[in-house]
Amino acid sequence: MTTLTDAPNYTPTLKLPPLQLGKLTIDTPVVLAPMAGVTNRAFRRLCREYGGGLFVTEMVTARALVERNPESLRIISHDPDEEIRSIQIYGVDPGTVRAAVRMVVDENLADHVDLNFGCPVPKVTRKGGGSALPWKTDLFTSIIEAATSEAAKGDIPLTVKIRTGIDKDHLTYLESAKIARDHGAAAVTLHARTAGQYYAGHSDWDAITTLREAMDDLPVLGNGDIFSAEDAINMVEQTGAAGVMVGRGCQGRPWIFGDLQAAFEGRADRFRPGVRKVADTVYRHGQLLTEFFEDEGKGMRDIRKHIAWYFKGYPVGGEIRSQLAQVPSLAVLRELLDQLDLDLPYPGEAAEGTRGRAGHPKKTHVPDGWLDNRVMSDAHREMIKAAELDISGG
Ligand SMILES: Cc1cc2nc3c(=O)[nH]c(=O)nc-3n(C[C@H](O)[C@H](O)[C@H](O)COP(=O)(O)O)c2cc1C
Repeated sequence: MTTLTDAPNYTPTLKLPPLQLGKLTIDTPVVLAPMAGVTNRAFRRLCREYGGGLFVTEMVTARALVERNPESLRIISHDPDEEIRSIQIYGVDPGTVRAAVRMVVDENLADHVDLNFGCPVPKVTRKGGGSALPWKTDLFTSIIEAATSEAAKGDIPLTVKIRTGIDKDHLTYLESAKIARDHGAAAVTLHARTAGQYYAGHSDWDAITTLREAMDDLPVLGNGDIFSAEDAINMVEQTGAAGVMVGRGCQGRPWIFGDLQAAFEGRADRFRPGVRKVADTVYRHGQLLTEFFEDEGKGMRDIRKHIAWYFKGYPVGGEIRSQLAQVPSLAVLRELLDQLDLDLPYPGEAAEGTRGRAGHPKKTHVPDGWLDNRVMSDAHREMIKAAELDISGG
C-alpha cells in the first residue's frame, strides 16, 4: 500500500510564509473551510493529524449562541489539543452579533472568530440574509463594527468570509472588504462566486487578484475550487493570496492538509492512500463521530455521506457501497470495510478532481426593493430578523 509518494521531478511546490491574523501566526497558510454538517471536532481532528493550518468549526448563528442552544455549544466545542480554537458565527442583527462575540470573549470560547456572509440559500437571501446582506452597507458596517469592537476586547482576531456579490450586476466584495479592513478585521476570505452562481462553474480567481491588489494592507484568503495541492499553488501564484481556504476538496480526503503543508513548505510529498488506509480512516472517523455525538446511531448516520466521498474513484463494488450507505453500527462498518480488497493501491486520477456540492446557477431571490438602494428600510429591518432562523451553512 502506498500512502506517500515523493516525486520531486514533476510535483510543483511553492514556499509561502506563515499567515498572520492579528496576534495569531498560522504556520501553514491554509484554512479548513467552515462546512455545516462536516467540519465538526471529529473531522477537524483527522485533518489536523495530516497538516497544519487553521481549522474552523461549522457555523453557528449568533442568536443560537447567545441563547446557549446545546447543539450550537457542541458545534463550537474544541478538542483540548486544538491550539487555535476557531469558530464561525453568522448573524443579521448587530446587537445579537455583539452579544455573541462578547460571550466568546468573556467565556474564553475561541481564539479566532470568522463571520459568515456567504450563504446563497434562497430561503435566507429572500429575507435579506446570507450573501444578500453585504449589499446593505449600513447593516453590514454595523455588524462588522459590533463584532470587531467586541473581539478587540479579548485581542481575538476577527475575519470575514464573503462571496463576490449577489449576481454579476450587484457585486459587493470590494466594498465589503474595505469596510471590514477599516473596522479592524484581520483578514477577508473571498469565495469568488456570486450567490447566483451557487456552487456551479468555477470560482473567479481573477476577483481574488483584484481584491488582493485593492487591499494591500489586509491578508486576502482565496477560496473556491481547490481540489489538490497543485490547485492551491496555482491559486496563490495567480492571485497573490496570503493563504488558501479549502472546503469540498477535503471531503473524504483529510490527507489533503498534508499535501498542502508539503506544497507550501516547498516539498513534493503527496498522500496517495490505498484502500486499506482509506478504510481505516473511515472507521476512525466513525468512531470519532460517535464520540462527538455521544451516540453511535447519530455517528453512523453522519458517516454515511463521508463514506461516499472517501471512496470516490476507488474500485468498490455497487453492492458494498449501498450497504455502507446504510451502515447501522460501528461493528457492521468494520465488517463491511474488511470485505474490501484492502491491498488495492491509490487509483490515481479517478480519486481526484472536483467533488462535493455542485449544482446549477440559481436566480438569487432578495426581498422586494432590496436592490433599489444600499441602505436598510424599516420594512427590510423587520424582515431580516427571520434570515437568521433556519440557516445551515453555505
Ligand atoms: C456542505 C457544505 C457546507 C458549507 N457550510 C458553510 C458554512 O457553514 N459557512 C460558510 O461560510 N461556508 C459554508 N460552505 C461554503 C464553504 O465554506 C466554501 O466557501 C465553499 O465550499 C467553496 O470552497 P470549495 O470550493 O473549497 O468547496 C459550505 C459548503 C459546503 C459544500
